[in-house]
Amino acid sequence: MDSLNDPYQLSRGVPSVEVFRRLRTQAGLSDKDPEAVALALPNTWHGVVLHHEGEPIGMGRVIGDGGTAFQIVDICVHPAHQGRGLGKHIMAALTEELERRAPATAYVSLIADGPARVLYEKFGFADTASHDSVGMYRVMGASHGAGESGAEPS
Ligand SMILES: CC(C)(COP(=O)(O)OP(=O)(O)OC[C@H]1O[C@@H](n2cnc3c(N)ncnc32)[C@H](O)[C@@H]1OP(=O)(O)O)[C@@H](O)C(=O)NCCC(=O)NCCS
Repeated sequence: MDSLNDPYQLSRGVPSVEVFRRLRTQAGLSDKDPEAVALALPNTWHGVVLHHEGEPIGMGRVIGDGGTAFQIVDICVHPAHQGRGLGKHIMAALTEELERRAPATAYVSLIADGPARVLYEKFGFADTASHDSVGMYRVMGASHGAGESGAEPS
């Protein structure tokens, strides 16, 4: 991976609750309840925030138990900065940390929304369906059968 050029900087950590919600919604991802976000962010295993001229414009996080299971979440780049290799930088930073610190047996999963799967395939992620398993989800507050109402963006 090429190093990031000015005026972009990638730093480790997580954004504030407000910035987290803004980055997600600007990129077209669903908003999250601020109280839930405040609970979540301190439990991040590894996170990165991408800045452009000091302004946060992207992020990504790894969550998990630190040993057996991890998930890559909240990958996003502001639309004005997409298509410049920044998503690849975010993914590279997260996967480098996983390669450095996670046990070799760790299971790392993610939900790929739309064309983002092309990005994840570049980092070795494969469709679970090709291995006779399928990703499943439930939103806690939703009635049973939440999946019947169609795909819920992550
Ligand atoms: C997905 C996202 C993070 C990619 O960020 P980005 O900075 O635009 O991505 P990059 O420029 O680093 O491109 C990475 C690779 O992904 C692929 N890619 C990215 N966006 C794509 C698109 N819309 N369609 C097809 N391929 C795409 C390209 O193949 C590219 O690799 P290449 O340059 O070697 O061909 C960004 O588009 C985004 O924030 N999207 C909205 C939020 C979202 O969907 N997040 C993912 C949730 S799972």
